[in-house]
Amino acid sequence: MSSVKIGLLGLGVVGGGTWDVLQRNATEIARRAGRDIEVVAVAVRDTAKARALLGDSVRISTDAMEIVRDPNIDIVVELVGGTELAREWVLESIAQGKHVVTANKALLAKHGNEIFAAAHERGVMVAFEAAVAGGIPIIKAMREGLTANRIQWVAGIINGTTNYILSEMRNRGVSFAEALADAQRLGYAEADPTFDIEGIDAAHKLSLLASLAFGIPVQFSKAHIEGITSLAQEDIQHAQRLGYTVKLLGITRARPEGIELRVHPTLIPADSMLANVQGAMNAVLVHGDAVGQTVYYGAGAGALPTASAVVADLVDVARLLNAAPEQRVPYLAFQHDAMADTPILPMEEVQSAYYLRLRVDDRPGVLADVARILASAEISIGSMIQEPAGDHADIMFLTHEAREGAINGALSQIQSLPFVRSAVTRLRVEA
Ligand code: NDP
Ligand code: HSE
Repeated sequence: MSSVKIGLLGLGVVGGGTWDVLQRNATEIARRAGRDIEVVAVAVRDTAKARALLGDSVRISTDAMEIVRDPNIDIVVELVGGTELAREWVLESIAQGKHVVTANKALLAKHGNEIFAAAHERGVMVAFEAAVAGGIPIIKAMREGLTANRIQWVAGIINGTTNYILSEMRNRGVSFAEALADAQRLGYAEADPTFDIEGIDAAHKLSLLASLAFGIPVQFSKAHIEGITSLAQEDIQHAQRLGYTVKLLGITRARPEGIELRVHPTLIPADSMLANVQGAMNAVLVHGDAVGQTVYYGAGAGALPTASAVVADLVDVARLLNAAPEQRVPYLAFQHDAMADTPILPMEEVQSAYYLRLRVDDRPGVLADVARILASAEISIGSMIQEPAGDHADIMFLTHEAREGAINGALSQIQSLPFVRSAVTRLRVEA
């Protein structure tokens, strides 16, 4: 059987890793796919660098669109990143009847609904295992392994860069800037690392996971997003003393009124599985009504782990090249015409427990006033500690579960109390 012909757009961290894996494991991959997978053309900006890596056997171009339109190519693998040029290349690939593999979560978070609709119309596959949690086969698990279940929630560490930064700051005491620079050097960070540290990359991935879990269109624009840039070292330390670790989590949960879709730093019990996920590793928990809780753990970023996911998609697509479109697994796990319009809940409606830190004057009546405001908002206090902070005191509360809107109302009242000396810190807590 003739080889499957690949046009590779991008030969950076992930593209280079993909080339490497396809070369080193060519025989194993062909045994699994049933035919050879052959990269015939590569698009980059710097052709000399690419030539040094690829040798003479592969055509190199600086014009990605030319590769997309090459009639000899069966599958276009988009590993450049960005949302606008990538959208044009992917839509044109689809229009040309080519299958697409991409690691580009930003592209799918922003233009996924358009891309999947176009692919459905044209009867081609769009595979994106590498777009969520690097090398972990979470898309495969959710699209195929868990199809019997009504998924109740998904929660996870889905950004390697921020988990690396938080781990390095906590375990080795390195500064935020130093840890970020290391993550960039190691190839974990996005081209624009604000996507990582502001929680945007995690929200891109979470919006895809929510679609796979609940059969809803991709709705990145409705996600609540907080990153780690305003996280204070003292809150990380207070959390530790209270028995918690702070992680950037993506959480999506089905509630009777709608779907929660949120990314934020979260206190989780220090002895929980997620709390012990270190460095650029990712972990995703998926709770299904039949299976219960399942856990997926592995490298969330980096050349070879991500390439592992890209090549897995290539093998899947190669195996199904001649299958009728209706026999293939739907892009977002649910049939294209069976998507639901369940609303995404506004953050005010989300229920969570909270960690609150107030810097206050250390005098009688302070605690009573704060407790009164929390009580009148029906927010129940789980525990409280007080520590000296220079001339003032820091009071830390852990609340029981409350509605975010109630917490917001209470916090604005507390903030205006005359003895409150700085902005109140609020972090969410998950058991
Ligand atoms: P890199 O920046 O390392 O690589 C980008 C590649 O794209 C380079 O080879 C670059 O060529 C090429 N390129 C850029 N612009 C163009 C253009 N206009 N035409 C043709 N080629 C172009 O990125 P990554 O490999 O890190 O990321 C690629 C994708 O994978 C992104 O969508 C990212 O979000 C995603 N991803 C990344 C992970 C990671 O760990 N890094 C993990 C999971 C997903 P040149 O070198 O010549 O400039
Ligand atoms: N920048 C991303 C991360 C790459 O750090 O997780 C993997 O998607």
